Amino acid sequence: MSLLRSSSMHPGWPMPAGPLRVRAGVVRLRPVRLRDGAVWSRTRLADRAHLEPWEPATGMDWETRHAITSWPSVCSGLRSEARKGRMLPYVIEVDGQFSGQLTIGNVTHGALRSAWIGYWVASSITGGGVATAALALGLDHCFGPVMLHRVEATVRPENAASRAVLTKAGFREEGLLRRYLEVDGAWRDHKLVAITVEELNGSAASALVRHGHANWT
Ligand code: ACO
Repeated sequence: MSLLRSSSMHPGWPMPAGPLRVRAGVVRLRPVRLRDGAVWSRTRLADRAHLEPWEPATGMDWETRHAITSWPSVCSGLRSEARKGRMLPYVIEVDGQFSGQLTIGNVTHGALRSAWIGYWVASSITGGGVATAALALGLDHCFGPVMLHRVEATVRPENAASRAVLTKAGFREEGLLRRYLEVDGAWRDHKLVAITVEELNGSAASALVRHGHANWT
Protein backbone atom coordinates (compact mmCIF):
# COMPACT_ATOMS: atom_id res chain seq x y z
CA MET A 1 0.00 0.00 0.00
CA SER A 2 2.74 2.46 1.01
CA LEU A 3 4.70 1.46 -2.13
CA LEU A 4 1.65 2.15 -4.26
CA ARG A 5 1.17 5.52 -2.60
CA SER A 6 4.84 6.52 -3.00
CA SER A 7 5.07 5.42 -6.63
CA SER A 8 1.95 7.35 -7.65
CA MET A 9 3.33 10.42 -5.88
CA HIS A 10 6.77 9.81 -7.32
CA PRO A 11 6.68 7.94 -10.62
CA GLY A 12 9.88 6.01 -11.38
CA TRP A 13 11.03 5.62 -7.75
CA PRO A 14 12.46 3.34 -6.33
CA MET A 15 12.79 1.57 -9.69
CA PRO A 16 16.35 0.64 -10.78
CA ALA A 17 17.63 1.27 -14.33
CA GLY A 18 19.89 -0.72 -16.66
CA PRO A 19 21.85 -2.81 -17.33
CA LEU A 20 24.03 -1.47 -20.13
CA ARG A 21 27.48 -2.84 -20.99
CA VAL A 22 30.38 -0.46 -21.69
CA ARG A 23 34.19 -0.85 -21.79
CA ALA A 24 34.47 -0.74 -17.96
CA GLY A 25 31.74 -3.35 -17.32
CA VAL A 26 28.00 -3.63 -16.80
CA VAL A 27 26.41 -0.38 -15.58
CA ARG A 28 23.23 -0.18 -13.49
CA LEU A 29 21.48 2.51 -11.44
CA ARG A 30 19.90 1.55 -8.13
CA PRO A 31 18.63 3.60 -5.16
CA VAL A 32 21.18 4.67 -2.51
CA ARG A 33 21.23 2.45 0.60
CA LEU A 34 22.27 2.89 4.20
CA ARG A 35 24.87 0.14 3.77
CA ASP A 36 26.70 2.14 1.03
CA GLY A 37 28.38 4.16 3.79
CA ALA A 38 31.76 2.42 3.98
CA VAL A 39 32.46 2.37 0.23
CA TRP A 40 31.00 5.87 -0.28
CA SER A 41 33.25 7.30 2.45
CA ARG A 42 36.38 5.37 1.34
CA THR A 43 35.96 6.34 -2.32
CA ARG A 44 35.16 10.00 -1.76
CA LEU A 45 37.96 10.51 0.77
CA ALA A 46 40.49 8.90 -1.61
CA ASP A 47 39.13 10.85 -4.62
CA ARG A 48 39.14 14.32 -3.10
CA ALA A 49 41.46 15.78 -5.79
CA HIS A 50 39.33 14.21 -8.55
CA LEU A 51 35.97 15.43 -7.18
CA GLU A 52 36.45 18.67 -5.26
CA PRO A 53 37.13 20.98 -8.27
CA TRP A 54 33.66 20.20 -9.65
CA GLU A 55 31.37 19.81 -6.65
CA PRO A 56 29.30 22.46 -4.84
CA ALA A 57 30.69 23.55 -1.46
CA THR A 58 28.63 22.63 1.59
CA GLY A 59 30.40 24.75 4.19
CA MET A 60 31.84 21.57 5.74
CA ASP A 61 35.43 20.42 5.29
CA TRP A 62 35.91 17.41 2.96
CA GLU A 63 37.05 14.98 5.68
CA THR A 64 34.12 15.65 8.00
CA ARG A 65 31.60 15.71 5.17
CA HIS A 66 32.76 12.29 3.96
CA ALA A 67 33.37 10.52 7.26
CA ILE A 68 31.58 7.17 7.36
CA THR A 69 29.48 8.54 10.22
CA SER A 70 28.08 11.27 7.90
CA TRP A 71 26.48 8.79 5.49
CA PRO A 72 23.37 7.84 7.54
CA SER A 73 22.16 11.46 7.60
CA VAL A 74 23.22 12.10 3.95
CA CYS A 75 21.48 8.92 2.82
CA SER A 76 18.31 9.43 4.85
CA GLY A 77 18.15 13.05 3.63
CA LEU A 78 18.32 11.85 0.02
CA ARG A 79 15.75 9.10 0.59
CA SER A 80 13.42 11.50 2.36
CA GLU A 81 13.57 13.86 -0.66
CA ALA A 82 12.91 10.82 -2.86
CA ARG A 83 9.83 9.87 -0.84
CA LYS A 84 8.51 13.39 -1.26
CA GLY A 85 8.88 13.07 -5.02
CA ARG A 86 11.59 15.70 -5.37
CA MET A 87 14.68 13.55 -6.06
CA LEU A 88 15.87 10.22 -7.45
CA PRO A 89 19.21 9.53 -5.74
CA TYR A 90 20.97 6.60 -7.45
CA VAL A 91 24.20 4.70 -6.99
CA ILE A 92 26.05 3.86 -10.21
CA GLU A 93 27.08 0.21 -10.04
CA VAL A 94 29.66 -1.36 -12.36
CA ASP A 95 29.61 -5.17 -12.31
CA GLY A 96 27.63 -4.93 -9.07
CA GLN A 97 30.17 -2.66 -7.33
CA PHE A 98 29.50 0.86 -6.02
CA SER A 99 31.28 3.12 -8.55
CA GLY A 100 29.70 6.56 -8.18
CA GLN A 101 26.39 8.37 -7.92
CA LEU A 102 23.82 9.82 -10.28
CA THR A 103 21.24 12.16 -8.80
CA ILE A 104 18.12 13.56 -10.41
CA GLY A 105 16.96 16.59 -8.43
CA ASN A 106 14.38 19.37 -8.25
CA VAL A 107 11.84 17.10 -9.89
CA THR A 108 8.81 19.14 -10.89
CA HIS A 109 5.64 17.78 -12.47
CA GLY A 110 2.61 19.69 -13.79
CA ALA A 111 3.23 22.03 -16.73
CA LEU A 112 7.03 22.10 -16.17
CA ARG A 113 7.89 18.36 -15.87
CA SER A 114 11.57 19.16 -15.40
CA ALA A 115 14.60 18.14 -13.29
CA TRP A 116 18.37 18.54 -13.09
CA ILE A 117 20.83 15.66 -13.32
CA GLY A 118 24.34 15.30 -11.89
CA TYR A 119 26.88 12.49 -11.42
CA TRP A 120 30.36 11.43 -10.34
CA VAL A 121 32.38 8.31 -11.05
CA ALA A 122 35.29 6.90 -8.96
CA SER A 123 38.68 7.81 -10.47
CA SER A 124 39.69 4.12 -10.53
CA ILE A 125 37.12 3.47 -13.26
CA THR A 126 36.98 6.68 -15.32
CA GLY A 127 37.53 6.62 -19.08
CA GLY A 128 35.53 3.40 -19.50
CA GLY A 129 32.19 4.86 -20.57
CA VAL A 130 30.57 4.56 -17.14
CA ALA A 131 29.27 8.15 -16.81
CA THR A 132 28.05 8.09 -20.41
CA ALA A 133 26.07 4.90 -19.79
CA ALA A 134 24.75 6.08 -16.41
CA LEU A 135 23.60 9.39 -17.90
CA ALA A 136 21.85 7.61 -20.78
CA LEU A 137 20.07 5.29 -18.32
CA GLY A 138 19.17 8.27 -16.13
CA LEU A 139 17.78 10.24 -19.07
CA ASP A 140 15.71 7.33 -20.33
CA HIS A 141 14.37 6.94 -16.80
CA CYS A 142 13.46 10.65 -16.63
CA PHE A 143 11.66 10.63 -19.97
CA GLY A 144 10.12 7.18 -19.40
CA PRO A 145 8.87 6.18 -15.92
CA VAL A 146 9.33 9.64 -14.32
CA MET A 147 7.41 11.20 -17.23
CA LEU A 148 9.50 14.39 -17.45
CA HIS A 149 9.68 16.65 -20.46
CA ARG A 150 13.01 18.44 -19.86
CA VAL A 151 16.25 17.58 -18.06
CA GLU A 152 18.98 20.14 -17.44
CA ALA A 153 22.51 20.09 -16.06
CA THR A 154 25.12 22.65 -15.11
CA VAL A 155 28.82 22.09 -15.72
CA ARG A 156 31.96 24.16 -15.34
CA PRO A 157 33.42 25.17 -18.73
CA GLU A 158 36.76 23.68 -17.57
CA ASN A 159 35.21 20.24 -16.96
CA ALA A 160 36.05 18.77 -20.38
CA ALA A 161 35.27 15.15 -19.42
CA SER A 162 31.79 15.96 -18.12
CA ARG A 163 31.05 18.22 -21.09
CA ALA A 164 32.00 15.32 -23.39
CA VAL A 165 29.62 13.03 -21.48
CA LEU A 166 26.75 15.54 -21.75
CA THR A 167 27.35 16.11 -25.47
CA LYS A 168 27.34 12.36 -26.18
CA ALA A 169 23.94 12.13 -24.44
CA GLY A 170 22.53 14.89 -26.66
CA PHE A 171 22.47 17.85 -24.25
CA ARG A 172 22.73 21.26 -25.95
CA GLU A 173 24.05 24.49 -24.47
CA GLU A 174 21.57 27.13 -23.37
CA GLY A 175 23.91 29.72 -21.88
CA LEU A 176 26.52 30.68 -19.32
CA LEU A 177 25.45 31.17 -15.70
CA ARG A 178 27.92 33.68 -14.28
CA ARG A 179 29.34 33.06 -10.79
CA TYR A 180 26.57 30.48 -10.43
CA LEU A 181 27.83 28.07 -7.79
CA GLU A 182 30.40 28.08 -5.00
CA VAL A 183 32.83 25.35 -5.98
CA ASP A 184 36.38 24.75 -4.75
CA GLY A 185 36.65 28.05 -2.90
CA ALA A 186 35.12 30.51 -5.41
CA TRP A 187 31.91 31.42 -7.24
CA ARG A 188 32.29 29.63 -10.57
CA ASP A 189 30.67 30.20 -13.95
CA HIS A 190 28.69 27.19 -15.22
CA LYS A 191 27.30 26.27 -18.60
CA LEU A 192 23.59 25.45 -18.55
CA VAL A 193 22.80 22.50 -20.83
CA ALA A 194 19.45 20.84 -21.41
CA ILE A 195 17.54 18.30 -23.45
CA THR A 196 13.81 17.76 -23.98
CA VAL A 197 12.10 14.51 -24.80
CA GLU A 198 11.43 15.58 -28.41
CA GLU A 199 15.15 16.20 -28.99
CA LEU A 200 16.13 12.76 -27.74
CA ASN A 201 14.09 11.14 -30.49
CA GLY A 202 13.86 7.70 -28.82
CA SER A 203 16.11 6.20 -26.14
CA ALA A 204 19.50 7.56 -25.07
CA ALA A 205 20.73 4.03 -24.26
CA SER A 206 19.64 2.77 -27.70
CA ALA A 207 21.50 5.67 -29.32
CA LEU A 208 24.69 4.67 -27.44
CA VAL A 209 24.29 1.08 -28.64
CA ARG A 210 23.59 2.26 -32.20
CA HIS A 211 26.76 4.39 -32.20
CA GLY A 212 28.91 1.57 -30.82
CA HIS A 213 29.47 3.15 -27.35
CA ALA A 214 27.56 0.43 -25.44
CA ASN A 215 25.88 -2.96 -25.75
CA TRP A 216 22.76 -4.52 -24.28
CA THR A 217 23.73 -7.30 -21.86
N1 ACO B 1 39.11 16.65 -22.65
C1 ACO B 1 38.14 16.21 -23.49
N2 ACO B 1 37.48 15.04 -23.32
C2 ACO B 1 37.83 14.31 -22.25
C3 ACO B 1 38.82 14.70 -21.33
C4 ACO B 1 39.46 15.94 -21.56
N3 ACO B 1 40.38 16.40 -20.73
N4 ACO B 1 38.93 13.76 -20.39
C5 ACO B 1 38.05 12.80 -20.70
N5 ACO B 1 37.41 13.13 -21.82
C6 ACO B 1 36.38 12.39 -22.53
C7 ACO B 1 36.74 10.94 -22.73
O1 ACO B 1 37.50 10.78 -23.91
C8 ACO B 1 35.36 10.31 -22.82
O2 ACO B 1 34.79 10.42 -24.11
P1 ACO B 1 34.85 9.15 -25.13
O3 ACO B 1 34.21 7.99 -24.44
O4 ACO B 1 34.04 9.64 -26.28
O5 ACO B 1 36.29 8.95 -25.42
C9 ACO B 1 34.53 11.19 -21.90
O6 ACO B 1 35.28 12.38 -21.68
C10 ACO B 1 34.31 10.53 -20.58
O7 ACO B 1 33.30 9.56 -20.78
P2 ACO B 1 33.06 8.40 -19.73
O8 ACO B 1 34.19 7.42 -19.76
O9 ACO B 1 31.69 7.92 -19.95
O10 ACO B 1 33.07 9.22 -18.35
P3 ACO B 1 33.71 8.72 -16.98
O11 ACO B 1 33.08 7.47 -16.52
O12 ACO B 1 35.19 8.77 -17.12
O13 ACO B 1 33.22 9.91 -15.99
C11 ACO B 1 33.18 12.13 -15.09
C12 ACO B 1 33.39 11.27 -16.33
C13 ACO B 1 31.82 11.87 -14.50
C14 ACO B 1 33.28 13.60 -15.49
C15 ACO B 1 34.26 11.73 -14.03
O14 ACO B 1 35.54 12.09 -14.54
C16 ACO B 1 34.06 12.42 -12.69
O15 ACO B 1 33.38 11.88 -11.84
N6 ACO B 1 34.67 13.59 -12.51
C17 ACO B 1 34.63 14.30 -11.24
C18 ACO B 1 33.22 14.76 -10.86
C19 ACO B 1 32.53 15.47 -12.00
O16 ACO B 1 33.14 16.21 -12.76
N7 ACO B 1 31.22 15.24 -12.11
C20 ACO B 1 30.41 15.89 -13.15
C21 ACO B 1 29.99 17.25 -12.68
S1 ACO B 1 28.99 18.08 -13.89
C22 ACO B 1 27.48 17.30 -13.81
O17 ACO B 1 27.25 16.49 -12.92
C23 ACO B 1 26.45 17.64 -14.84
